[in-house]
Amino acid sequence: MVFEADNPQQETDPQGGGAAVGLALNDKRRELILKRVREIPSLPEVVNKIIQLLGQPHTSAAEISKLISYDPGLTSRVLRMVNSASYGIQRQITSIQHAIMILGFNTVRGLVLSASIFKLFAGGKKSGLFDPMAYWRHSMLTAMLGRLVCKAYALPEGDEAFSAGMLHDIGKLVLHEHFTADYNLVQRLALEHHCLPHGERFLLLERQGVGTNHSDIGAQLAVKWKLPATLTEVIQHHHHPERAVLNANLTYVVALANKLSVFVEQAYDLDTMLEHLPENLKDYFSLNATEDLAFLAPHIEPSLAEVDQLLQQFSKQAES
Ligand SMILES: [Fe+2]
Ligand SMILES: [Fe+2]
Repeated sequence: MVFEADNPQQETDPQGGGAAVGLALNDKRRELILKRVREIPSLPEVVNKIIQLLGQPHTSAAEISKLISYDPGLTSRVLRMVNSASYGIQRQITSIQHAIMILGFNTVRGLVLSASIFKLFAGGKKSGLFDPMAYWRHSMLTAMLGRLVCKAYALPEGDEAFSAGMLHDIGKLVLHEHFTADYNLVQRLALEHHCLPHGERFLLLERQGVGTNHSDIGAQLAVKWKLPATLTEVIQHHHHPERAVLNANLTYVVALANKLSVFVEQAYDLDTMLEHLPENLKDYFSLNATEDLAFLAPHIEPSLAEVDQLLQQFSKQAES
């Protein structure tokens, strides 16, 4: 086992969990994981209310906009998003209700949730090797690329893909915040073994180091927060979209956007991207030649610029 060979078991969990290094997943560890998830605060009341309303079939944009307008941070975020370049709207949108109608309920949900999670985890203070800003960049880029993939394939899940992309790796924040020392060790080993934090080997390192992985613990949190079942499914299965049963399209879209997001950050060209894509994703999306990824090219720079803008807003909001 990687951890047994590499770690002399000096690192312990500062919150009293003890090192999971070299240990099989025993009942005690499982209990600790459940306990930590239970201890994570609930989402703010207004956010819960908005999420609840967004999930009901007869909710109107007027009702949502009333709730959002109580929160100046959310209001400005929604308006900025709708006025950003990617929506291509010529005139300035200043009404929150109008903005919600343009963005769609799921995009609004993605924004509201990610903003409050950002605040809840204080943006994820940097400690050790986990870089919270890189985490948020990756999540935002995955959200945007997910929406783009849906557009390219004429799938109706575009807005939902935005929310799901934003939250797919939420388990990593939980591991970073609540199993800090163990997770730091996972990051160190990943680095030493040239293992990118987005693949199968990384999930294995997480399980060996902490006793769970970011998909499983993220899904546990999603259940605790009563997020919609399709979002929970993406969080749980974005590394194994073939296991999705509620909405396979959505899970595959986020799985693809997740990979593309990593490739874009690595500045791969389209040929290299195609070469590195897993076979199951290539098959699902019929990605057989470089031209099949051409839909991405004009959107890479604007998406990266939009991510930077969104990240700045989030940081400012978290400080206030
Ligand atoms: Fe992931
Ligand atoms: Fe990811």
